[in-house]
Amino acid sequence: MHQIKTFNAIAPEGMQRLEKEKYDINENDHPEGIILRSKKLQTSEIADSVLAIARAGTGVNNIPVESCTERGIVVFNTPGANANAVKELVLMSLLMSVRPVVSGINWVQQLTGSDISEQAEAHKKQFAGHELEGKKLGVIGLGSIGAMVANDAYRLGMEVMGYDPYVSVDTAWSISRRVQRAQDISEIFTTCDFITVHVPLQEKTHHLIGKKEIAMMKNSAHLLNFARAEIVDHSAVLEAINEDELAGFTTDFADENLLHHDRITVLPHLGASTAEAETNSAKMAVRTMKQFIETGIIKRS
Ligand code: MLT
Repeated sequence: MHQIKTFNAIAPEGMQRLEKEKYDINENDHPEGIILRSKKLQTSEIADSVLAIARAGTGVNNIPVESCTERGIVVFNTPGANANAVKELVLMSLLMSVRPVVSGINWVQQLTGSDISEQAEAHKKQFAGHELEGKKLGVIGLGSIGAMVANDAYRLGMEVMGYDPYVSVDTAWSISRRVQRAQDISEIFTTCDFITVHVPLQEKTHHLIGKKEIAMMKNSAHLLNFARAEIVDHSAVLEAINEDELAGFTTDFADENLLHHDRITVLPHLGASTAEAETNSAKMAVRTMKQFIETGIIKRS
């Protein structure tokens, strides 16, 4: 009987699949596999019996990958399983960055009297916005999320430029023939109206966007980060926005220094928070873990 340990519950469909396979779930201290979502896993929590760790999600920065590699433990994620959820939130955030809908909704709620429709018509000018069509979006990182964002932004009528040092031209272009390829990352910074980042957090991507990079951006540019907080230097963003050197910032990562700023939108890490994404990620994690435990092979399906 194979033993699996789960930390913070994965979606019910994943747990049901584990039960169907008749695995022992959380029954003893000698699991062969660990499946987890966002819990920060400590090295001391990984028993010597563990062969593989599955992250039901994209980023693996909550797992001590280096020490796992030293111990011969395989770490894998569920690439693409939550990409659609993140893409939809990025597109919504792009739209919200040009249309002040939240302010409009909050404003209309506090109107009183029998003539609120007249009041709304008389004052709606303050909530006028812009359109995305014809504006240029820079996508840094053309993995499953970045590629989907690029494709759908193009469908919204945006001009799209992509940058990814690891995706070959052929792969990027089979993902989307409509994405222009940036010669280097600075072409994204200097030419785009909106810049969205979709790279994993690694040593070399820590503060990938800082003071120097923001200085290259148009003063009218809007930056979005749905990847990991540490990829963007928040103090550099704040300074640039306060100096009118950057028009806006949307981030999926809470930071008290960014709150209560009318040109900064902070979300509580909602990118992958849909029922569909959680189900897809849990099912993929369990499927891949089962395959690895039973065959020693990891095959993406
Ligand atoms: C991911 O890495 O999968 C997303 O950021 C969502 C999450 O961490 O739950």
